[in-house]
Amino acid sequence: MIDDPIITSQTPAEDFTIKQVWDAYTEEEHGVWDLLYTRQAELLKGRTTKEFLEGLKLLSLGDGGIPNLEEINPKLKALTGWTVVMVPHLVPDDVFFNHLANRRFPAGRFIRKPDQLDYLQEPDIFHDIFGHVPLLTQPVFADYMEAYGKGGLRSLKYNGLKNLARLYWYTVEFGLINTPEGLRHYGAGIVSSYGEAQYSLESPSPHRIEFDLMRVMQTDYKIDDYQDVYFVIDSFEQLFEATQQDFAPLYKQLSQKSDSYTPQTVLKADKILQHGTLEYSQSKATSKS
Ligand code: PHE
Ligand code: FE
Repeated sequence: MIDDPIITSQTPAEDFTIKQVWDAYTEEEHGVWDLLYTRQAELLKGRTTKEFLEGLKLLSLGDGGIPNLEEINPKLKALTGWTVVMVPHLVPDDVFFNHLANRRFPAGRFIRKPDQLDYLQEPDIFHDIFGHVPLLTQPVFADYMEAYGKGGLRSLKYNGLKNLARLYWYTVEFGLINTPEGLRHYGAGIVSSYGEAQYSLESPSPHRIEFDLMRVMQTDYKIDDYQDVYFVIDSFEQLFEATQQDFAPLYKQLSQKSDSYTPQTVLKADKILQHGTLEYSQSKATSKS
C-alpha cells in the first residue's frame, strides 16, 4: 500500500474506509490480478470447496481485471447482505470487528507488484477479495463471519482477543475441511496462495488435526511461513455451531492456564487426521546435538 497515491491522498472516514477509485488502477495492476486469478483458479480445482468455487462464479471475479466494488457489492448484498469496503491498511481491532459485525468486509486497495507474485508484506486486494469474499456468498459462512465480528467486540471486554484471533487464524485464514470428495481448504490465506494451496493438502510435513474450539484457541501460529498445523472442520455448520456458545467463561478458563501450545505440538487428546513429519525431523535434530 505504502506508495499507492490513491490511498495516501485520501483522508480515511471515521470507520477507516476510503474510496476504491477503480478507474485509477493501471493496466499493469489489472494484469497482476488476471495473472494471479488464472493461475489460482486452475490450481484450486479439486483442492478447495465447491462453495468457494461457486462464490467465484456468483461474483464473476474472473471477468478480467481487478474487481470493481460497485459491481460486486450489489451482487454480494443480494446474496447474503455482505458488502466489501476499502481500507488503506490494517485497521484497529475494534474497527475491524465492527465492520464484520455489520456484514462489511474490509479489503486493502493495493495489489502486489508483478515481480512479487508470491511475496506479501501485508494483505493486498487479491488476498482480501479473491481469498475472503467468495465464501461470503454462502449463508452459513456469512453468518459465521458476522458472529465472529460481534464476538470480537466482546473479546475486547473479556480480555480474550488473543484466543479469538487464533480461532480466526486457524479457520478463516488457514482452515481445512473434510468433504465427501476429500480433504479441501477454505481458509483465505491458503486459497489465495499458490504455494500453500498445495502444501496444506499435499505436504507430509504439517499436522492435520480435527477442529476443537478450545484446542485452537490455545495454539500459537506462525505468520511468516507455511503453517505447521492445520485444523480440520467437518462442515461450516459445525464451525458455526461450535462458536454459538458464550465465550466469556471460555476466556476465563483459558486465562487461568499459563501456556499456549506451539504449532508443532501434538496432544494425546487430539484427533489426528495426519501426523506431520516435522516433529520427527526436529527430535532428530535435538538428539544429534
Ligand atoms: N459466541 C462467541 C461469544 O460469545 C462469539 C463468536 C461467534 C466468536 C462466532 C467466534 C465465532 O463471544
Ligand atoms: Fe486475510
